[in-house]
Amino acid sequence: MREFDPFAWEFHEDPYPTYRWLRDEAPFYRNEKLGFVALSRYDDVLTGFKDVEHFSNKDGVALEQSSQGDPSETTSFLAMDPPRHDVMRGLVARGFTPRRVMDLEPRIRALATTHVDRFIEQGRCDLIQDFAGRLPMDVISEMIGVVPEDRDQLRFWADTLMHREDGVIDIPKEGMEAALNIIVYFQDLVAQRKRQRTTDLASALLDVRIDGVDLTDKEVISFLFLMVIAGNETTTKLLGNAVYWLWKHPDQRALVRADASLIPSWIEETLRFDGSTQLLRRTARGEPEFHGQKIRDGERVVLLVGAADRDERMFPNPDVYDIRRDTSQHLAFGKGTHFCMGASLARLEARAALEEIQRRLPDFELDEPALQRVHSVNVRGFASLPIRFTPGRRGG
Ligand code: HEM
Repeated sequence: MREFDPFAWEFHEDPYPTYRWLRDEAPFYRNEKLGFVALSRYDDVLTGFKDVEHFSNKDGVALEQSSQGDPSETTSFLAMDPPRHDVMRGLVARGFTPRRVMDLEPRIRALATTHVDRFIEQGRCDLIQDFAGRLPMDVISEMIGVVPEDRDQLRFWADTLMHREDGVIDIPKEGMEAALNIIVYFQDLVAQRKRQRTTDLASALLDVRIDGVDLTDKEVISFLFLMVIAGNETTTKLLGNAVYWLWKHPDQRALVRADASLIPSWIEETLRFDGSTQLLRRTARGEPEFHGQKIRDGERVVLLVGAADRDERMFPNPDVYDIRRDTSQHLAFGKGTHFCMGASLARLEARAALEEIQRRLPDFELDEPALQRVHSVNVRGFASLPIRFTPGRRGG
């Protein structure tokens, strides 16, 4: 039997043939060596998301064994099951409703314009380093209270936490150190806000009480940690993937050029076709059965979102990138209890950023040989995406 190894760089280059094999030949796939069961068909992944009784988030959503050392994995509400999950999520969810997010639109557009101004006259940039990596960090930083001069450092730590060398199957020492640095950073931030409140999320969380009890510092830090990890990487990768795939498909690019109202469809098809979150881990409770086989109680289960969103049982001609298709059922933001809290924000950021690119760098060309892929177990996208375009004017 073929091996599915989500840690292998070769697999990251193009995971889709492996996903097809899994869906068709091994829809219940167990890797005894690495210790997990993988589900790849759309219906099965959907069940994994919805059935919180048999698929628990409690031990985290990362596949690596030592992800337990990562606070976004253990003490954040992403790593909780109901009912505690619902209480904790409820504390911050109000700030992320579609209506509240729409209020951020002018600010997000202004940030996008400022970043493009920095490189527009040069006629070239690295789309990830100069733009896509910065905008989501700015937006989430303004919400939670991280000052501009600290954002590059935080982004570097977050990237280090995600990066994996070929074949490394656990979080490496550098990743653990980066996680620790982020914790220490937020400890300082919380200490500052204790002395003086501002209007940011860090301050608001310090005034929250559940049943008359304050949140602990550890809980406040885990909220901030989750926002900075969940809110950045994924949106950065979405922007890079969107630009890459549109460039690879001149027919689709012509459609967007002719009609900017197709930009949201471009975003959704990119999420389906090559989403930034490829897999999520669950821990089995009881012995849920799939395709005549039982998952063991306590076994790690990999929900292969990237495979589900290419399942022809759900999406006709799934390997065709087609911005006019119906993408309403894609699972790129998950489903059910843990459905991405930042989905509206990510969509707004992506729309603002891609509209800015279309408007100001309409003739961009990618330097394909120079692009670099991120190597991570669950995040898919580029670390570097150099582009060229006709130079424009600042402020335009
Ligand atoms: C393209 C961008 C994004 C993608 C693809 C994405 C994807 C996801 C997915 C698949 C989940 C479900 C995890 C699970 O079921 O275990 C999730 C959860 C979450 N996302 Fe996102 N996300 C994105 C952007 C954001 C942003 C901008 C934020 C900003 C705050 C955010 C915050 C969260 C949070 C807090 C959760 C945990 C929800 C819960 O456990 O109830 N995400 N995201």
